[in-house]
Amino acid sequence: MYYGADYYPEHWPRERWERDAELMAEAGINLVRVAEFAWALMEPEPGRYDYAWLDEALDVLAQRGIQAVMCTPTAAPPAWLCQQYPDTLLVQRNGRRVEFGMRRQYCPTSARYRQLSRQITTAMAQRYARHSQVVAWQLDNEFGGHHARCYCPACAEAFQGWLERRYGTLDALNDAWGTAFWSHTYTAWDQIPLPTDAVGSSNPGLELDFYRFSSDQWISYAQEQIDNLQAHSSAPITTNLMGLGFGEIDYFAMGRQLDFVTWDNYPTFIQQDPAAIAASHVLMRGLRDQPFWVMEEQAGPSGWQAMSPAPQPGQLRLWSYQAMAHGADGIVYFRWRTCRTGIEQWWHGILDHHGEPGRRYQEIAAMGAEVRALGDRLLGALPPKAVAIVLAYDDRWAMRLQPNAAGFEYTPLWLTYYRAFHRLGVPVDVVPPDADLSPYALVVAPMLHVVSEAYAHSLSTYVQQGGHLIVGARSGVKDLHNRVVDRQLPGLLADLCGVVVAEYDALGAGNCVRLAIAKAGAGLGEDAVGHTWADILAPRGAETLATYLGTFYQGEPAITLNRVGIGTVTYVGVLPDQDLADGLARCAIERAGVAPLPETPEGVEVAARDQDGLRYLFLLNHTAEPKTVPLPEPGRDLLAGATIRNSLSLAPHGVAILEIPLGG
Ligand code: GAL
Repeated sequence: MYYGADYYPEHWPRERWERDAELMAEAGINLVRVAEFAWALMEPEPGRYDYAWLDEALDVLAQRGIQAVMCTPTAAPPAWLCQQYPDTLLVQRNGRRVEFGMRRQYCPTSARYRQLSRQITTAMAQRYARHSQVVAWQLDNEFGGHHARCYCPACAEAFQGWLERRYGTLDALNDAWGTAFWSHTYTAWDQIPLPTDAVGSSNPGLELDFYRFSSDQWISYAQEQIDNLQAHSSAPITTNLMGLGFGEIDYFAMGRQLDFVTWDNYPTFIQQDPAAIAASHVLMRGLRDQPFWVMEEQAGPSGWQAMSPAPQPGQLRLWSYQAMAHGADGIVYFRWRTCRTGIEQWWHGILDHHGEPGRRYQEIAAMGAEVRALGDRLLGALPPKAVAIVLAYDDRWAMRLQPNAAGFEYTPLWLTYYRAFHRLGVPVDVVPPDADLSPYALVVAPMLHVVSEAYAHSLSTYVQQGGHLIVGARSGVKDLHNRVVDRQLPGLLADLCGVVVAEYDALGAGNCVRLAIAKAGAGLGEDAVGHTWADILAPRGAETLATYLGTFYQGEPAITLNRVGIGTVTYVGVLPDQDLADGLARCAIERAGVAPLPETPEGVEVAARDQDGLRYLFLLNHTAEPKTVPLPEPGRDLLAGATIRNSLSLAPHGVAILEIPLGG
């Protein structure tokens, strides 16, 4: 298994490099990621390349058997480039150009930037394609970060071309966007504007298409780099994505163009909640339904101006094993040593600024020894497939553009459903709306807002074949052009759900509505609460599981269940609070016959990966107290090297990986 560090030899004097390599090797580090921000060093002036320093750094690392992920440096174009070619700079929605001085200041559409990045990428590919240490390539760094969309003239023109290819004729586009509204009818492609209006009053069809176009621009820009690299190198290609926290690029589409997925995990900086971190891991695994790597795993207190709290003893190891529990086959820490200069002075690496090993180094080194002892047995193993949660970038974008009610956000809603399964110890896969659903006994669509005939058909086939489906509020509202459908909601899903929305109430952020659980809904919990949104339902064949209390629609259905053959569809007309989501998940797994993993005490996460007749059961204590986990069957603890029966003791932030024969 690769266990690595993001290494910037260019930030340190040459005479330090041997010591770095020595300390890395002692910590079990067998891989570095290099060069992703080193364009100015590798091409100090146009067309003059200098790789001597990088070659030398690789040589030093080679003496310790350390391999490398080589990066294309295009996330940080040099000053000379930006000065010479201002047309490569990204323009923000307010019309202002991003000037040189940070990073990621380029426009992915710019033909000139594409040409310049082709040159550097090709030069690097020629140089390092056959380098014995280079095991993979990373494209750029965090595509879409800082600035996800560009509003420059080149993007305006490319958007018009993209629309022409998508719609064929202006009549089709005018119809799809309903441009009769406010006299927006287009009679020439070059009349179509970018959505730059500060009032935010662009057409929803145009806005959603612009989000799609912008996502496509990153994907086509990445594809050019992939093509350049593949012309010279057969090493696998990845890029570092940003988990669930970043929603600007259709990661399912980007995942398809990569050989493997990697992402950047900063538990205390971005997400404190272990379930939210797990959700990102699971999404990243779901992009290719394959194991992934963490390319930047938090190694210390993090922040640019102010830092997050220090990881407590054991937490760095815990977070790394959590990643492995959900399918990580490689862990690379950000960064090797904390930089003395630049805006990331407080973004701590494994070593502090002074470079002497400290507590975090010792913890990572101890884990390095464990990782070596584990060997490659976990590589390729995947969790059992029983439950899928649908995540749709179109829905994230449509809801961002028009949240429907104050405080109605896609990701927190999605996470509430995810967290319910996480708490129950039920492994889930994250899938796009057009996925093959047949491997799953239960599918959850927290909100399928933008629905095509094809999605509706696939869900209906799934349920008719015995699948169990949960559909959340505000589903079936829009068609693919972001038009509201011309039928009763949930639109194309109404027949399948056996219910229509008679009326709805945009409650808004923080406003709750109480529900009475009907007999048929027993198990959903008592005192059920919804918030932010309420669909007032009229069953058309479905039975009522819960009704509203204490509002003008008191007594009307809020949650329904439709039986379709041996399959079922639950329609949830509110945004559930966590207790209600937990109840929905509990009832659904029972109905679908999905067995959870062994129950764990509060704060202990359980996850599993299976391979070759063996289950690797991960138990992860996210609390600062010791915990005892009852075990229904014995297993060999791979980290402790002992067989554990009846119950397992976990130290604060402790971890166990039990190997258990499957079906034994
Ligand atoms: C990541 C990024 C790294 C570094 C790190 C700390 O998102 O990929 O290059 O900037 O954050 O800020």
